[in-house]
Amino acid sequence: MEQDYKRLVRERILARDELIRATFSGEQKGSSLAWNNVVVRPVEIKGEIHLQFSYFDDKKDITKNYLEEAASKVDELLALPFRNIFVESADGNVQVNISKKGKAVVSEPKPSKAHAETNLAHDRQKSRLLSAENAEPFLKAVGIMTSDGKIRADMQSKFKQINEFLRLVDETDALQAFTDQPIHVVDFGCGNAYLTFAIYYYLHDILKLDAHVTGIDIKADLIERHKEKVKSLGWSQLNFQVGQIADYKPATIPNVVLALHACDTATDDALAQGIHWGSKLIVCAPCCQHELQAQMSRVPMPEQFASVFKDGIFFERIGDILTDTFRATILRIMGYRTDVTQFVPIEHTAKNLMIRSVKTSSAGNTHWVEEYRNLKSFWQVTPYLEKLLGDEYKPYLSS
Ligand SMILES: C[S@@+](CC[C@H](N)C(=O)[O-])C[C@H]1O[C@@H](n2cnc3c(N)ncnc32)[C@H](O)[C@@H]1O
Repeated sequence: MEQDYKRLVRERILARDELIRATFSGEQKGSSLAWNNVVVRPVEIKGEIHLQFSYFDDKKDITKNYLEEAASKVDELLALPFRNIFVESADGNVQVNISKKGKAVVSEPKPSKAHAETNLAHDRQKSRLLSAENAEPFLKAVGIMTSDGKIRADMQSKFKQINEFLRLVDETDALQAFTDQPIHVVDFGCGNAYLTFAIYYYLHDILKLDAHVTGIDIKADLIERHKEKVKSLGWSQLNFQVGQIADYKPATIPNVVLALHACDTATDDALAQGIHWGSKLIVCAPCCQHELQAQMSRVPMPEQFASVFKDGIFFERIGDILTDTFRATILRIMGYRTDVTQFVPIEHTAKNLMIRSVKTSSAGNTHWVEEYRNLKSFWQVTPYLEKLLGDEYKPYLSS
């Protein structure tokens, strides 16, 4: 029986053209696992369908794509004492639950409405998140596509950037929680708002969620233009407001906070807002930043780094790396499973880091607190985000 279910699960997962998603979760009685859950799904990379394995625990997730090695990775998972396995596939779903006595209960539930939706999601992923076929109204509305249906040459890289941003948001699996409740999103420092329009279209028209999206920027002329466009499109749950990120007081707390290349410390303003609200998902692609470099230039740098700092460019880059390390560590302390990933290839934009954070626990993980304090005391700086978070979070951040 055990071999039967393992063979069935293995077959369904390895039929990668048909696979939608497989989830391994929970521990069998009396055993322990390094991961809370593992999700396997197909992704197309350079024209070939790989299997993407995402391993989640409370603090982090690790994502790896496999082509030939996929079968042995599935076998590794099947050898672990997971309690539940759910495979969604165009060939039919398979549900396996291991009872307290270690017996495998296997069922093959009928594909539900959710199945049909995930099927769509699979098709979507196999093409791109937004494609000329599925997103024509959006692409035309924001001027990425010409009226005769071609992606404009000077918009190719913006289009790629938006798609990659959406793919990385989707990959966190945080959106799944909103299939039967409204999702509120704020895009801070929305600027030209390609991403704001895109995320609205993606959530509302493609994923069919009850999405409410607000773009915030200090540039009144831009916001006025976006409002006009929204009116002409009749996209009733997409809004724009003029204002400072730090001053934004939403009527409903945002579940998702986005900030794509918000300038300098505006990224910290966005992160501080998301942390205060306890938003489920916070995704930012930081921009140029100078605040920490200014602090670093006022204190003596660690002697061991003397030769690194002979060249100004290294000083600047270490400042950037430290700023983003502090941001990621603060998010981890605040109970966010956080990863830092390359967002788009360097030829599209030099600002190509993305910090992705999903709220999974409450604040105060002592491991991260200690790492954070050590890093601060080594460099003798205080990250701007810590200053913004203020007294409420002082017990975790300052020693
Ligand atoms: C580099 S643009 C990025 C725009 C857009 N997110 C994108 O990636 O295309 C940064 C935007 O952030 C806005 N911004 C900077 N600081 C801000 C703040 N404190 N509050 C609101 N908007 C801000 C700027 O006006 C600008 O439009």
